Amino acid sequence: MAEPKFAPSILSADFARLAEAVNAVERAGADWIHVDVMDGHFVPNLTFGPKMVADLHEATRLPLDVHLMIERPEDWVDRYADAGASYLTIHVEASRDVPGALAAIRARGVRPGLTLNPETAVEAVLPYLGALDLALVMSVHPGFGGQKFIEGSIDKVKAIRAALDGRRLAAELEVDGGIKPDNAARLAAAGATVLVAGSAIFEDPDGPAAALRRFKQAIRS
Ligand code: DX5
Ligand code: ZN
Repeated sequence: MAEPKFAPSILSADFARLAEAVNAVERAGADWIHVDVMDGHFVPNLTFGPKMVADLHEATRLPLDVHLMIERPEDWVDRYADAGASYLTIHVEASRDVPGALAAIRARGVRPGLTLNPETAVEAVLPYLGALDLALVMSVHPGFGGQKFIEGSIDKVKAIRAALDGRRLAAELEVDGGIKPDNAARLAAAGATVLVAGSAIFEDPDGPAAALRRFKQAIRS
């Protein structure tokens, strides 16, 4: 089992000190920075927009893994591409034109990702796997950090892993929500290649670097 990448989600970081938070996990060996964009419509919470992504792009060398929890994501591709997103992930439930949105992301030189809510069946994303650089399984209901991991998500990871391998596709398989050191190894074994964690990293009393080390130990043991 290859070691998964870690993408700390800044949703649980101190928004008034984001550069410090990002630099701390960068020094501690994070692979990507996961940026949760919420519009108050697709999800019942509001976070930040393209300017935050542009400013973070100046603050870190890590790839910015931008998770768009917004309606009509296709209308925002250019702004997030201009801002320096490396990956741009849209929700299959949110777009009126999923293949068009994915193609628009790739045309801008950004890596396209597609995700699905916990109540959406994996069949909704399987037709698009060939157009993706990243498939994301949501393991909580999107909108807030600190929720409990939904166990049924592991079967979704396995199903998408089987579909990717069956078609010899190399897209990343990411999981997001409720991930802690105690479920990280099971997710990696199920075929996940990228693990997102917010509260487990940025709300750890020992600090984000210690939290990230604990994740890496859990995977290795
Ligand atoms: C939820 C977000 C997640 C969230 C994960 O809507 O997409 O990225 O930050 O937070 P934790 O790890 O606390 O569940
Ligand atoms: Zn997310």
